[in-house]
Formats: sequence, C-alpha cells, structure tokens
Amino acid sequence: MSTNNNSTVVNKLFPKHFLWGGALAANQVEGAYLTDNKGLSTSDMLPNGIFSPPVARQGNEFSLKDVAIDFYHRYQEDIALFAEMGFTTLRISIAWTRIFPHGDESEPNEAGLAWYDKLFDELARYNIQPLVTLSHYEMPWALVENYGGWGNRKLIAFFERYARTLFKRYGDKVKLWLTFNEINMSLEAPLTGVGLQEGCSITDIYQAIHHQLVASSLVVKACHELIPDAKIGNMLLGGLTYPLSCQPADVFQAFQENRRWQFFGDVQCRGAYPGYMQRYFREQGIELTITADDIAALRHTVDFISFSYYMTGCATADPELTKKLRGNILSMLPNPHLASSEWGWQIDPLGLRTLLNTLWDRYQKPLFIVENGLGAIDKPDENGEIHDDYRISYLNDHLVQVREAIEDGVELMGYTTWGPIDLISASKAEVTKRYGFIYVDLQPDGSGSLKRSRKKSFWWYQQVIKTHGASLQQ
Ligand code: BG6
Repeated sequence: MSTNNNSTVVNKLFPKHFLWGGALAANQVEGAYLTDNKGLSTSDMLPNGIFSPPVARQGNEFSLKDVAIDFYHRYQEDIALFAEMGFTTLRISIAWTRIFPHGDESEPNEAGLAWYDKLFDELARYNIQPLVTLSHYEMPWALVENYGGWGNRKLIAFFERYARTLFKRYGDKVKLWLTFNEINMSLEAPLTGVGLQEGCSITDIYQAIHHQLVASSLVVKACHELIPDAKIGNMLLGGLTYPLSCQPADVFQAFQENRRWQFFGDVQCRGAYPGYMQRYFREQGIELTITADDIAALRHTVDFISFSYYMTGCATADPELTKKLRGNILSMLPNPHLASSEWGWQIDPLGLRTLLNTLWDRYQKPLFIVENGLGAIDKPDENGEIHDDYRISYLNDHLVQVREAIEDGVELMGYTTWGPIDLISASKAEVTKRYGFIYVDLQPDGSGSLKRSRKKSFWWYQQVIKTHGASLQQ
C-alpha cells in the first residue's frame, strides 16, 4: 500500500516471484504416439475424447491425437514462442507410456527418458521452470487390459516405480511436480481417470480412487526423499457449485456437491478420509479395502494445491428441477446470471476469487492455478490474423479476480493458462475448440501445415507478464 497526494492507492501488482506461463498435456500436444517405443495409452484408445467409449486400434483408425500439434518434433520452436511471451514456467505432463510402455516393465525406456531430457534442457535455456504432471489423463493401456486399471492394488507399485524413475532422472532439472491431473474427474470419466471399463460400480470406482490416493501420497514421500528441494502438489478440477436458490435445502445440496470433489483435496492435504465421506460410504453400502499401511501412506500430504478453473454451476435439492434443467459436463445446473462460452461452459471470473479464498481458508497451503482459459472458434481474417478479443477479455477478467484474491491474503504461486498454443481438446478430441495465444494450422480432418502464428492475445499476455499485471483492465 502506498500513498499519493493524500489519497490511498492500493498497489495491486502481482508479486515479483509469481510464476507466469501456460499448461500442456502430453497426449494433447506431442503426437508421435508410437515413436521411440512409446506404448499405447488410454488416451490413444479414446480418439473421440474422454467421455466416449474406447476403440480397438488396428493401425488404420484416425485420431487427431496421433500427430496432435507435433510438439514432439516442434518443441524448440514452441518454447521459443513461450519465451517470447515472457513465460517463467511451463506446465507439461510426461506420458507414462514413453517411460514404461506397458506400465509393468522392470526397466524404463531410455528413448522416452532422453526426449524429456531434451525438453527440460530447452526450457532451461530460457529460464522457464518446468512444472511437471506425472499423469495427465492417461496411463498405459496394457495396465487396463492386463490388470483392470487402478482397481488393482498392483498399480500403486507400478506408479511409484514410474515416479521414482522420473525423480532420479530429472531431480536436478525439475523442482515442481504434480501427481494426478484433475484426480476428482474419475467420478465422471472412470476410464481416463482410473482405467476402469464400462460396467464398473461406484464401489469399484472409489476403490480405484483409493489406490490412486495412496499412490499419490507415496509419490509425495518419494519426491521429498529423492529431491529435497522440490515441491510436489496435487491437481484438482476446481469446480464451484452455488445453490440455485437461497432455500436452506438448496444451500446444503450445493455444499454437499462441493464436498464431492473437495474430498480429494481433503485426503491429499490433510492426510486422512474425512468423516462426511465415511458416512457417505456407509449409507451407500460402499465397502472399501483400506489397509493399515494405506492409512499410514496417506499421511504424506502435498506441499501445495494446484487446480483448474473454467466454470461454475448450480445445484438444487429439488429432483424434478434437477431433471428439467440440463447440466453441464460436470452435471452442474446452469446459472441464470452467467453467460456461457460456445461450448456452454459458464463464465464466472468472480467465482475464481471465491474458489481461491475457499481453498486457502480450508487448507492454508500455497495454491497454484494450473489451468484457466477460453475454448473458442478462432477465425483468421483475410490477412490470416486472429483478433481474439473474447479470449483477452475472459483472461483479463479472471486475472483481475486473481489479483483481488492475492489482496485478500491468498498465497498463490503462479498462473498457467490452459493451452497457450492450440491443442487437441480433452472432452471431444477436437481442434475446433482453440485455447491458444498461438494459432496452429491444423484442421478437423487432420489437414493443415501445422504452422504456428501469433494471435492478438499473444501480445496481450506478453504485456501482462512484463508489467506484472499492471496492464490488466479493471
Ligand atoms: C481440463 C483438462 O479438464 O480441461 C485438460 O485437464 C483439458 O486436459 C481442459 O483439455 C479443457 O477441456 P477441453 O475438453 O476443452 O479440452
């Protein structure tokens, strides 16, 4: 706070150490889906997105993800563009199948390890700090077929071996890690989240989630042992559900809906299953196998909390109304006070401030926004330029609220927009839905030169980073 001409001026710049950047996931950008001995992943089996059924891959099916934006071969050009925007961090994920193609090998695949070495070295050239997700919406398909995915306790050891391999190999290059991307999404997309196929019961899903939570904790422990100066966080889909009305029953319904996903954060940050979840399991007849070793493992809690934020929604205690109003992909009901994106995701910048404060109040651990952005149709003008003012406006309004949350006292490590370069979307595996500051010439049928070009938002984000947020419009 500084004073100027007797009037109080609040200094609302982002802190100097704040990390700025963007976030990517291996299966949405890399392509090269069989290169250098990579194995097939769950994502490779879902060419139509995370909510559609898997297809058999016999070699001639088309998936946009097979080549994606060819980051595997073009990472140098892309990193140079990120550096030009002023990124100080880049969130990437490692494809488990590049390191252990089938998931259960005793030795890792050197070719896969070597590629990520090159990627981290390139980032280091520009002083861009990698933030690495161990598993972003993919796992070896062989673990699904041969072991039944995370329903099988053996997956805990396979994942720990994978993570320890990475910590040993990259410990001097990577100091920020995340365990499972949007771990709470397993409730909506069990195959992507925990490798469970159609027909699984809710008990199967929670048992698989339990194994994943134990694995996440053991990996936190391993990270602390192997890279003492690193920090490791969890990654939650940060939804926020409002009551549809102020009737107490609706308020309580919304409260319970929020707990459905907060449960994951509660276990990962507090180290034990919360009472409300135990009650839920009892009442639903969900009996989980939880050993004494599991309970001990869960005590290894994360250093920070990362989350994605795209939209909010509502809940009501009225079952008829719930049926009548169409929910979004997260089954939340539409909010009559909010506008939506072209994909029906309701835009709510103030909700981000509420969520940041909620998480900070609940856990008192540093937070990191690792995904936020607007998926939209970008149309190049006659000169081939993209004037994506809608994206600028979306990001501007969210960042203004982020800055307010920092003023509220929330400890925030950084902000990475989702998809700083156009990529393949997760829900429907399409390229029409673009998030980037950088346009990629890739069309829905796979045609296109893959040439990169800067959108208007590229220059806007560069300015935001350079000015520590002073260029944001209130
Ligand atoms: C998050 C995922 O849920 O949302 C990303 O972590 C995903 O992988 C992003 O891409 C946006 O979703 P979509 O379906 O628009 O790609």
